[in-house]
Amino acid sequence: MRTRRQDDVVFEPVMRSLSMRRIDQILQTVAPKDVTVTLIGESGTGKEILARRTHELSKRRAGPFIPINCAAIPDALFESELFGHEKGAFTGASERSIGKVEAAEGGTLFLDEIGELPLLLQAKLLRFLESRRYMRVGGAKKMQADVRLVFATLRPLEQEVREGRFRADLYYRIQGVTLNVPSLRERRADIAPLIAQFAAQLSSRHGVERPRLTRQARAAMLQYDWPGNVRELRNVVETLCLLRGGREARLADLPDPVRGAPKSSRSSAGSDTLTLSLDRPLDEMVGAIVQAVLDREGGNRTQAAARLGVSVRTLQRYVASGRVADLPSKR
Ligand SMILES: Nc1ncnc2c1ncn2[C@@H]1O[C@H](COP(=O)(O)OP(=O)(O)O)[C@@H](O)[C@H]1O
Ligand SMILES: [Mg+2]
Repeated sequence: MRTRRQDDVVFEPVMRSLSMRRIDQILQTVAPKDVTVTLIGESGTGKEILARRTHELSKRRAGPFIPINCAAIPDALFESELFGHEKGAFTGASERSIGKVEAAEGGTLFLDEIGELPLLLQAKLLRFLESRRYMRVGGAKKMQADVRLVFATLRPLEQEVREGRFRADLYYRIQGVTLNVPSLRERRADIAPLIAQFAAQLSSRHGVERPRLTRQARAAMLQYDWPGNVRELRNVVETLCLLRGGREARLADLPDPVRGAPKSSRSSAGSDTLTLSLDRPLDEMVGAIVQAVLDREGGNRTQAAARLGVSVRTLQRYVASGRVADLPSKR
């Protein structure tokens, strides 16, 4: 008998932080109504997962959820992608094809990166949104769409309108409930539960035990700014599962930027500045730097080497040469 893979378990999105709990409250309220929802947020903040949640919390949940990335479709194919086409509608249209609007019938159509849509196509989209009617390219039959719309954008659309890149009439047409999805660094309370969820999910997917994060590694992940947001965090946890599954994952196992000195509130004991006198021999200055880093890493040569961007052997040679005095005992 085939057993159900752990992987099949559906994980709820993590929404532990206050700002995400607020967003979820609003979604719980508006999702069952058919209003348009617009999600604004940096890449990787979870706009698509929230669009899916909107669908799942709606009466349309049994219907399809169809995403369409407006930034990824060549201009010439946009109408056909959205509305479909009849056989022979244009060169290469060898078969009738169903568009995304028709595929989303009875469900939710998610238009991602709406701000990237060229002006000409914005006009075509507006025409559809006003009537909810469309025709397949090369077709004659007017079709009526029954879809719920969710939009996502990286930048606020007001700004795009002001700068003439987005049609004001389309902007007003898609106004519904607008939610600002905060970056991960603005809702750090989500980092730990996200690490836990991804570690569970991805270790099981790859058939490994979870990696065990050391205290320092965890602290670095909690302090890092995550410019790539949840997507970046997920990738880091996936790499740790693959490389350190069932073992300790230490600071040195994290990618450089994550491990690097955080900009804010360093919690470890050592300071991260060092004053050097410029009239001393280079050897002495290098020795002082190595010494300071070793001190800060509590004498851990692996971590110190990683911070300095040299191999442990290089560091050890340095220590053995006597240029570093008073090495604290190795932990
Ligand atoms: N709150 C969350 N809980 C669990 N996983 C999340 C959460 N937010 C984002 N993710 C995951 O992070 C990745 C990026 O999310 P996505 O929705 O595609 O972001 P965006 O559309 O804003 O670029 C996806 O793998 C998604 O499943
Ligand atoms: Mg996305």
